[in-house]
Amino acid sequence: MKRTQKILAPSILSADFLNLGRDVTIALEAGAQYIHFDVMDGTFVPQISFGTPVIKALRPLTDAVIDVHLMVEDPSRHVEEYARQGADIITVHAETCTHLDRVIGQIKACGKKASVALNPATSLHVLDYVLDELDMVLIMTVNPGFGGQKYIPYCDGKIRALRKMIDERGLDTDIQVDGGISASNAKRLSECGVDVFVCGSAVFEGDIAKNVKDIMEQF
Ligand code: DX5
Ligand code: ZN
Repeated sequence: MKRTQKILAPSILSADFLNLGRDVTIALEAGAQYIHFDVMDGTFVPQISFGTPVIKALRPLTDAVIDVHLMVEDPSRHVEEYARQGADIITVHAETCTHLDRVIGQIKACGKKASVALNPATSLHVLDYVLDELDMVLIMTVNPGFGGQKYIPYCDGKIRALRKMIDERGLDTDIQVDGGISASNAKRLSECGVDVFVCGSAVFEGDIAKNVKDIMEQF
């Protein structure tokens, strides 16, 4: 069922990479509960971002939840290493897994929370047989690969449909949204049933602490 305490997961893709520890610390001290790592391979998505060395560097900084979003082809090659470096949640894209059920099992065998991401155009039906295994579902609300994009409006209906699926099955699976999320749409999306809000530019552009508070006030 829907969380009472909503979660803000700032995406470090939009942070100042020359001062990553500082920016992450400010966001967490202002109240964010997760840190979202956008791992991009330049193949599944156009950009290359970063890999496990950044997780390894930040892990000792905090015991906040490290939420890894693998935007990479065949993520089964990387799951163990992200688990070893300190990921708490590992999200794989359904579009990148030939054997999705097996990858979900691989993440859980590492003792981590398993999450599946769906691109905007990908149907929720992909989850029909694995939803009960998932700790979280990431609904991409932009086409993945870049920060600072605009929210895709039809995702409201997709979020509500997923909330209905989860509630009808009596599951505790969290709904996460990612892409174009800010204080201007967080309240509406919370009412649609979102539990975890990924914000990149809306947190790290400008006054980080104020941005965090402005967004969390909307939940
Ligand atoms: C896009 C990433 C998102 C992105 C969010 O592929 O998965 O997490 O960084 O950035 P904003 O919040 O700026 O849209
Ligand atoms: Zn992401």
